[in-house]
Order: sequence, then C-alpha cells, then structure tokens
Amino acid sequence: MKSEAGTSLSRKQSLIEDAQKEKEVPEVTRSDPMAVTSDHLDDGRSILNIIFTIRNTTASHFSCSLKILENHSTLIYHMETRPAGRCKEKEELECFVKCLIPNPSVCSLLSSLKKIASDVKVVKDLTSLSFPRKVQDLDVCQHLCMKFEPNFNKDHPGFGDQEYKRRRGYFAELAFKYKDGSVISRVEYTAEEIATWRQVYKSLSSLYPNYACKQYLDSFHQLEKNCGYSENSIPQLQDVSNFLKERTGFKLRPAAGLLSARDFLACLAFRVFPCTQYPRHPSSAMHSPEPDCCHELLGHIPMLADKEFAQFSQEIGLASLGASDEDIEKLSTLYWFTIEFGLCKQNGSIKAYGAGLLSSYGELLYALSNKPELKPFDPEVTAIQPYQDNSFQSVYFVSESFEDSKVKLRQYAVNMIKPFYLWYDPFTCSVEILDSSQKVRTALCQIKDELKSLCSALDKLC
Ligand SMILES: [Fe+2]
Repeated sequence: MKSEAGTSLSRKQSLIEDAQKEKEVPEVTRSDPMAVTSDHLDDGRSILNIIFTIRNTTASHFSCSLKILENHSTLIYHMETRPAGRCKEKEELECFVKCLIPNPSVCSLLSSLKKIASDVKVVKDLTSLSFPRKVQDLDVCQHLCMKFEPNFNKDHPGFGDQEYKRRRGYFAELAFKYKDGSVISRVEYTAEEIATWRQVYKSLSSLYPNYACKQYLDSFHQLEKNCGYSENSIPQLQDVSNFLKERTGFKLRPAAGLLSARDFLACLAFRVFPCTQYPRHPSSAMHSPEPDCCHELLGHIPMLADKEFAQFSQEIGLASLGASDEDIEKLSTLYWFTIEFGLCKQNGSIKAYGAGLLSSYGELLYALSNKPELKPFDPEVTAIQPYQDNSFQSVYFVSESFEDSKVKLRQYAVNMIKPFYLWYDPFTCSVEILDSSQKVRTALCQIKDELKSLCSALDKLC
C-alpha cells in the first residue's frame, strides 16, 4: 500500500472517504453513547439495536430493564439474553434488544439503561455485519483508489504515454479476472520492462547488506536461490506465491492498482497479499507514485517470508475487520509506519524492514542517516503520527523486535471498540464472530489440542 501524491491531509480524507464508501461495519458508541442510532425512519422513529449487561440476574433487575423500554414507548422486534460469559460467577446477563423508538426518546432510553446496566452500546444488527468472513470473499474486496493511476493522475510519469496505459489495461484485466484459488497468469515482460526492473534491482541490492534487517537478507537470498530473483528477469507472481505459501502461509493475488485501505487490510487478515504485476514507467525507474511490481517484489515479499513478520501483518489485518472508519485510518497509519516504513533494532544497530524503504534507494539511505527523528514503536503514538506521502518521512518508528511489536499491536487492537470478537481459523482460512460461549469453547479446544501436542513434544525432548 503506497501512495505518494497529494498531502497527508488529502490522503487522510481519502482514507476516510474510502472507508465510508465501503462501510459495512457496526456503528459503535464512543465517547458519546447517545450519538449513534441505527436506521432512521421517515415517521420520526428509529430502529435501534442495543446491547447491555445486567449486573444482577434477579427477575426484578431484568423486569426493570423491560420497564425502561416500555416507558420509552419502544416496540420490541427482537430480544435475546445470555450469560455474560466473562463473569459467570457474578451472574451477569448480556441482553440484545432490537426495537423501534421515537427519535426524541433515544438519549433518555440509553441514559436510563445505563443506570441499571453496564456496557450499554448501540450497534448495527450483528447478523447484518458484512465484512469478508472467508478468503474467497476477498474476490469482491478489490476496490481501487484510481487517483494515483496514469489515466487519472496528470503527475504520473506515464500520463501521456498511450502505450504504457494500454499495457496497464492488460495487467488490470488479469487482476480483475482473478478469483481466489486460480493460478496467477504468467506475464511475458518486454525488454523495456525488464530493463527498468534491472536498474531498480541492481541499485537496491547493493544497499541491502548494510541497511536491510537480517530477516530480509535471509529471505532475499532464498528468493534468489529458489524463486528466480535476479536482475535478468522479473519473477512471476505465481512462483513467488508458492514460495511464500510454503514458508508462512501467505499467498499473493494480483491487484490492478492501489486498493482502498479497508480492502487491503482485509486481505492481510486472511494471509493474502494484493500484489501489482506491472512495472513502473521506464522514464522514472527510481520512483513510482503508486505501487508496482518492483515495490512489491523487492520491498514486501522478502519480509512476508518471515514467520514473525507474517503474523504481525495478519494481526493488523484482523484488527481491521469490522473496524470503524476512524480505526481504519489509524490502522492504515500503523501499517504505514511499520510494514511500509518500519525500522528495527538488531545487534546494536538499526536496520530497515519497511517495504517503502527497501524499494527506495534515496529514502533507505535517508532513513538510516542521522537526519530523521527516530521514535520507539508504540501503537498509541504511531497510529496518530502525521506522515508524508509525497516526500521522505520526518519521523520513523523503531521496533524492538517483531514479536514485541506484535504483542503491542495485539493489545492496541483489544482496546479498539468493536461489539464482537473474531477468531481466525487457519484450517478453513475463515474468521468467525465469537458470539456464543459454544463458539469460544470450540476455538479453545482447538488451541488446547495444539498446546497438548507441543507440550508432549517438549516433554520428550527434556
Ligand atoms: Fe506497499
């Protein structure tokens, strides 16, 4: 995910617009729980979905909540209760109510419920939540940000080049035709395209030994050995996808251009990396205003072959599923300062692991000079750091290790406000909403079995 045109403000606006455009996510109460309602009807009433927890399961407390609903002239469509699983010993009851209510009564109703219940939230109907649940769903999550493309961006080096744009049309068609599970089409690259790749490959690979992190270097050598990485040919995506699948379970799917933030992050949740297949314009071999295969193959792929980094990438993706527009923006910023422009500590020095750095000769040298400010990676700080997408960053964030960053990111994601928990099942490549204790128990059983096997193996070795 790389964009370099426009100001950071305009990019932020576009991220929010993108997220809003595709919004199929729950509205969740934030600082003002009264501010969010569900569908407004023309007759001055709204359909409201409320979740709240009754702290005491005696009949009087429950009937009290019903009385509050009655007093606010609600018409109840649906009601569910279940033990609040996290505190069974405290006998808490979680309630879900879908009701019709006059608009002026909404604030009063929520306020009254808060007096007898905790965790009062207004959400969209859980059953209507729509985000990709399985890897095949990604086939419809391929919304593009067109404004960086040569057909729409007059600053693009290929803007006036009809032949380049025709060629881009060919690559776009390959991406649009692709469905999960099919084989990625092999491309016969032209001599000019290979020459562009060669120029980028030669200049960058001379820097890697001194500037790239150990994980990157290990994978890069493996790619040279096993996957056709060389200055003489552009690696084929299907070969690279096979390579990644064997090592970390990640696979590639061709992308026609820069995907919207929400769709891009959703792909990561399923260990799928959207990968452009076209090279940059030959007149600008050392810079591209949008992602291209040089950026993907040299910047992203080697890191995705590292298990810890792959897990870190998936964590950002999982956090994005069903997230609010504002949280998508924050996760995109986290992505930007880690997967695109991240630095890490290694053996007493600082190395690059971000794809935006490892595919940019100038910024790689700059980031590891003493000019920019370096800050420790802290998701709360990093997520709101303004950034540059049309020049070098003024600040870079340094990870202690990928494991450390993963733990911090997971904690950050837990604190994001969502009305549900998700579980990723690696066997089916799908996510499940954990909305019943049975589903949680099933997921726990799976983990327990895996832990037992690992403990047995450890016992044997000790
Ligand atoms: Fe990227």
